[in-house]
Amino acid sequence: MGKSSKDKRDAYYRLAKEEGWRARSAYKLLQLDEEFNLFEGVARVVDLCAAPGSWSQVLSRVLIKGEKFGRAGWEEKQRETKRYVLGLAYKEDHGEKAEERKPRENVRIVAIDLQPMSPLEGVTTMRADITHPSTIPLLLKALDPDTYDPSATSAAHPVDLVISDGAPDVTGLHDLDIYVQSQLLWAALNLALCVLKPGGKFVAKIFRGKDVDLLFAQLRIMFEIVRVAKPRSSRASSIEAFVVCEGFHLPNGFKASLDKPIGTGIQPPTKVQPPREKTKPSRKVREDGAIEIDLGSEEEEDDHDDVEDGGTRWIAPFLACGDLSAFDADATYHLPKDRVSLDPVQPPTAPPYKRALEMRKHAGGAYGKTKGQAPHEST
Ligand SMILES: C[S@@+](CC[C@H](N)C(=O)[O-])C[C@H]1O[C@@H](n2cnc3c(N)ncnc32)[C@H](O)[C@@H]1O
Repeated sequence: MGKSSKDKRDAYYRLAKEEGWRARSAYKLLQLDEEFNLFEGVARVVDLCAAPGSWSQVLSRVLIKGEKFGRAGWEEKQRETKRYVLGLAYKEDHGEKAEERKPRENVRIVAIDLQPMSPLEGVTTMRADITHPSTIPLLLKALDPDTYDPSATSAAHPVDLVISDGAPDVTGLHDLDIYVQSQLLWAALNLALCVLKPGGKFVAKIFRGKDVDLLFAQLRIMFEIVRVAKPRSSRASSIEAFVVCEGFHLPNGFKASLDKPIGTGIQPPTKVQPPREKTKPSRKVREDGAIEIDLGSEEEEDDHDDVEDGGTRWIAPFLACGDLSAFDADATYHLPKDRVSLDPVQPPTAPPYKRALEMRKHAGGAYGKTKGQAPHEST
């Protein structure tokens, strides 16, 4: 697909180039922030699986340059509309004027990826594998270079937010892709447990597979609020979504460690439950919007493994986010005739397909045929 054709079919790809973002993923984070006000009170952040770096760009521009995007940008737009509608008099009467950019204090942003990432203002970039235990000391050192203690297993000055947009190279085999993705999520969570401060937030990409409810229930052990969100910039046809977890707290007596990472797998019950009387299924909407479904004891006998203690299944609230007026990621848009298609802001520095392209070029052409070579000869 050519650049122009992709510009038509993917409004966010085009917009990212026009607005200077390294990847269209930037809009996913911005739309998540619009809904959840992720950056409020945030100064220290870890961005996992960060290359080519559009999420880090958002962090750098919001936290370091004090620019307004996402929720803050939306609020600013509302204020401007109000000012416009009410006229200048409103501004004078209420002493309101457009707020100046205010960079935040004590900002620290650490970005990690397997791939190299071009530098970004105020962002410490690291090339490492988030699934490998050796990454934790590297991360702790990057977070507190002056006070780093090599024997520490958690951050001396913990962070407010951990975000992870980790994605494996998708194979198209859904079960395999979901499994590999879930391993990245667990790796991100294990790192987050070592660096998040109490009350901190964790946002990570998930693939909505069969047993995703179990994952939400497990996240609820560590976070007060767990919600699932689908930004408008994420294609409806994709099983991708994001968990947005707030109110981090470690369970009593639990010590985070990458030597004994937590991971998927159903824990056996610690106590044998006495048989319960038969009850009818019921449904209750809680204050935080979560729906609790009691499946009743009949269902329990069916051996549902996603039924938590006592037959209560927990379902995370699901939110679509991003303004309804925002572009639809699945739609094709017409472009003006004389429009010039822009190049990407930051071409990949070392894409995984680079070697394949080099080999193809070396072999003499687009399809690997060497000029003048007989069909049976190989290179
Ligand atoms: C969708 S991209 C991230 C885009 C990024 N959020 C942005 O805004 O530019 C997924 C990234 O996950 C990275 N990744 C996959 N497995 C990883 C691992 N085990 N450790 C570190 N990064 C990983 C890939 O290299 C890739 O750059």
